[in-house]
Amino acid sequence: MPPQLRVAVVTGAAQGIGQRTAEVLAARGYRLLLNDLQSCAQTAAAVEVLGDISEESTAEQIAAAARREFGRVDVLVNNAGIAHIAPAEQTTAAAWRRMLDVNLLGPFLLSREIGKIMLEQRAGSIINIASIAGLLAVADRSAYNASKHGLIGLTRTLAAEWGGRGVRCNAVCPGWVKTPMDTGPQELGLYNDRDIIGRVPMGRFASPDDIANAIAFLADPEQSGFINGHTLSVDGGWFADASWETLRLRHR
Ligand SMILES: NC(=O)c1ccc[n+]([C@@H]2O[C@H](COP(=O)([O-])OP(=O)(O)OC[C@H]3O[C@@H](n4cnc5c(N)ncnc54)[C@H](O)[C@@H]3O)[C@@H](O)[C@H]2O)c1
Repeated sequence: MPPQLRVAVVTGAAQGIGQRTAEVLAARGYRLLLNDLQSCAQTAAAVEVLGDISEESTAEQIAAAARREFGRVDVLVNNAGIAHIAPAEQTTAAAWRRMLDVNLLGPFLLSREIGKIMLEQRAGSIINIASIAGLLAVADRSAYNASKHGLIGLTRTLAAEWGGRGVRCNAVCPGWVKTPMDTGPQELGLYNDRDIIGRVPMGRFASPDDIANAIAFLADPEQSGFINGHTLSVDGGWFADASWETLRLRHR
């Protein structure tokens, strides 16, 4: 298929990982349909559907726009997400529900609506942006961790249900990435760059490019066509490394 006919939907595309992902996919020839709460005008030339992904109507509008503007969808990147940092004993039901609504219900609704298009095509790739917090616990993030663990469960379920009809579903688990999601908590003094760099065997943050390139790999059936239900850590070795701090740093 000529590259100009490939279509990607990216949520949370106004900034951070979603913005860079949209730029990388555009450079690889994808036509874009972008979603966010904020305008994505700074990101790339695209059809834009603004709205909250936890609302059923937003997912329906995105799918309708994809059918109307392009008549197909090859790639869905469920990237939009929010963080909530609080001790478990201080996490309210309202905060918990909001985390699960945005980080887990939203990707489900988008996958369901765009999945219908992909199932008709008998082709497509869904990429859910989870986190190392979907594989491991990070303290003070009970709702976030639960939402990302759940997203990996959803990824595996869709891979099992839809793989036989040509629709793949995989998850990407970034380590810490320099985006507004990182700068907010750092400004509040909750952690600093040294904490993160010390924890990562490769000794640095992930860049938005690191994550976007992994997403582009999972998007492309020529590169990853038999990869389905996989959880791809892009974390410089964080998940693999159970060393204690001084042992890790001795190997720098
Ligand atoms: N930054 C990190 O260190 C990191 C690490 C692991 C995983 N992640 C995950 O990567 C994804 C992107 O993170 P980021 O760092 O780019 O975050 P970010 O906060 O910089 O950007 C998130 C974008 O999503 C949008 N958004 C938020 N809620 C939305 C909603 N309800 N509907 C539509 N759009 C919404 C925001 O407006 C924003 O533009 C998230 O799912 C996050 O959990 C980030």
